[in-house]
Amino acid sequence: MTVTPVTYGESKRPPRGDYSTARADYTCDQAWGGYTPAQHDLYARLFARQLRLVQGRACDEYLRALAHLDMGERIPRFEDVSRSLGRATGWQIVAVPGLIPEEAFFRLLSQRRFPVTVWLRTPQEFDYIVEPDLFHDLFGHVPLLFDPVFADYMQAYGQGGLKALRHNALELLARLYWYTVEFGLIDTAQGLRVYGAGILSSPGELERALVHPAPLRIGFDLRRVLRTRYEIDDFQKTYFVVDGFGQLFGETAQDFAPIYEQLLPLPPLQAGRAGPGDRLYGAVAAPC
Ligand code: PHE
Ligand code: FE
Repeated sequence: MTVTPVTYGESKRPPRGDYSTARADYTCDQAWGGYTPAQHDLYARLFARQLRLVQGRACDEYLRALAHLDMGERIPRFEDVSRSLGRATGWQIVAVPGLIPEEAFFRLLSQRRFPVTVWLRTPQEFDYIVEPDLFHDLFGHVPLLFDPVFADYMQAYGQGGLKALRHNALELLARLYWYTVEFGLIDTAQGLRVYGAGILSSPGELERALVHPAPLRIGFDLRRVLRTRYEIDDFQKTYFVVDGFGQLFGETAQDFAPIYEQLLPLPPLQAGRAGPGDRLYGAVAAPC
């Protein structure tokens, strides 16, 4: 069975993964024994830097899970992570060669299986990478799968994705993923914190997402999120802030079919532009 390689966003670059060994559902073997000592070392350095940066910036649910996850010394074996994740929330992680098509992605999420890319960035990409690699997927996404409410949200999102495909509403639903799972902020008793994986795995964006005066931080509003465009290759100009994962799960539990019908004819909104009715949050004053 051969599957088609996938590229990121509008990218013209060739896909980086080896898709020749992928199964029909796009999963493959991690082939852990194939990582070189230099790759384990690069991973450990990425992990150590980011571990320092998430303190005081990531939400507690994330930090607590990260502390329990022994995955910083070298590239973890996915089976080991899956074992503890399975005990916590019934999720598993599965290896994939890289980006996979939407439908395969949604199907895995709906089965509580999170796809993690097997390849690691090069040392030249230590500070910045556009495409998701192993470090982004593991460090950014996996810890919150230990949170029961967030874990249920991710599964619901997968089911919702399969439904969005049937409604030709993928563009709308992809924005929800982007502005929550990838770039979400959360308002906590200690102030604004980060829960989005795209921020958590990026040193530059972690340092600025909470404190920089430029980006908009807008209180979560489902229709607003679904209409707001995003850019994949620069710091975000807009973030959306939830009060908690309960709010996220609650507000997305409704049937999206009538919402898609209402929003599909409307023009999208540009990132970085405030609109009427936006509840704006100020930047966090003191750097953490
Ligand atoms: N409730 C959504 C629907 O009916 C599904 C969904 C849940 C989408 C959670 C995203 C997140 O389509
Ligand atoms: Fe991601």
